[in-house]
Amino acid sequence: MVLFGLHRLTVACRPRAILGFSLALASLVAAAARAQQPLPKTDSEYIHHLEDPQRGEWQKPAEVIAKLGLKPGDQVADLGAGSGYFTFLLARAVGPQGKVYAVDIEGEMLDYIRQRAQNDNVKNIQLVKASPHDPKLAPASVDMIFICDTLHHIPERPTYYPLLARALRPRGRLVNIDFYKKPLPLGPPLEMKIDKPAMIEEAKSAGFHVIQDYDFLPYQYFLIFQQ
Ligand SMILES: C[S@@+](CC[C@H](N)C(=O)[O-])C[C@H]1O[C@@H](n2cnc3c(N)ncnc32)[C@H](O)[C@@H]1O
Repeated sequence: MVLFGLHRLTVACRPRAILGFSLALASLVAAAARAQQPLPKTDSEYIHHLEDPQRGEWQKPAEVIAKLGLKPGDQVADLGAGSGYFTFLLARAVGPQGKVYAVDIEGEMLDYIRQRAQNDNVKNIQLVKASPHDPKLAPASVDMIFICDTLHHIPERPTYYPLLARALRPRGRLVNIDFYKKPLPLGPPLEMKIDKPAMIEEAKSAGFHVIQDYDFLPYQYFLIFQQ
């Protein structure tokens, strides 16, 4: 099939098409190779994995942040902050008058963010050690709860959404970015993923409705909800 396609391209369009095809093939091969990499075993391997510079190609962090429409002074929770991949971008978006709560259940991840915030002199990040069943956010404390690649880790979501709803201020927004439930070269095993329609339904049961549905990320859905 592929060889036939290549032959047709070779005949029909010549060097540019061949170059484009080769690049696409190389990118597929690279993605397949990444998919075959073993899962990170230690915290430092995990941090390395989250901070992989190649992640930007598919995670498109600047575009994601731009779509959030954050204002200076906003208060945001980065739920499942990990290494702080988005935390620091959120902190910049809300400015010195704003605040980002970096929420995670892993002390090592919070330590990493603390160290990086000190090194970079970032003062508007507050660390929150959550428990698996409770984000430990105060009632009506944030304008946005931002979740990336984390919701599928949360065990009891029906009882968890009300805690998120409680933490949001009036007109506050809930953001969820997570992997499509289909075979992908990246991301968690298929059985761990939450199907996009199922995620929308479970959020709806907790009183959240979709206000934005972005599809520019190749591997993840990107939804914004409000109550
Ligand atoms: C795949 S990482 C994503 C990190 C970050 N959001 C990013 O996009 O790079 C998932 C993170 O969620 C954290 N996590 C898992 N379960 C959690 C829970 N119930 N509450 C808060 N954080 C959790 C993990 O410790 C890990 O740091």
